[in-house]
Amino acid sequence: MSPTGCYIISQMEGFRNQRRSDPTGFEYMWGLSRHLSDDQIKGLADYFSKQVARPNAPVDTKLMAAGKEIYEKGLPAKEAPPCIACHGAKAEGLAAFPRLAYQHQDYMVKQLQVFKRTDERPNTPMTQISHLMSLEEMEAVSGYLQTFPSDK
Ligand code: HEC
Repeated sequence: MSPTGCYIISQMEGFRNQRRSDPTGFEYMWGLSRHLSDDQIKGLADYFSKQVARPNAPVDTKLMAAGKEIYEKGLPAKEAPPCIACHGAKAEGLAAFPRLAYQHQDYMVKQLQVFKRTDERPNTPMTQISHLMSLEEMEAVSGYLQTFPSDK
């Protein structure tokens, strides 16, 4: 199993057990995952974690700079920890920590808001962190991550 497979398995199980109840997760993923066996979930995780992620269209440079700052240093004034501490130097993810590099900005902003609604993706470190973030901060860090510079 590659390093991010573990996260994919936990999310697929979360949909199958109806633990992950964000509206689009509920609408699209509950039915789809309901009849998957453990082995099928493992196979899917193995397949998806071996795909090569590619950068998306860059966002404007000011937003990139603001996002990089948040990713590497967190939001010290609000005591939000640096994202890099858990998601990795290249935002590549590891085990229970998802890869963030090259995910779509819109998706990440949406998920950060889902974490803020506490009961939809409950009991993760992101519950507290998302509560410390404004929408602008979410957009900046997610914009940075969707084109994460390849030299880093
Ligand atoms: C203490 C560790 C930790 C820190 C620090 C952290 N995260 Fe996370 N993050 C996690 C974990 C664990 C998950 C997976 C949660 C789950 O299982 O649903 C996650 C999930 C996410 C997701 C959802 C990804 C997806 O594929 O749905 C986003 C987006 C995210 N984090 C962004 C951030 C940002 C931005 C920061 C910095 C402001 C940050 N994280 C800091 C641990 C952390």
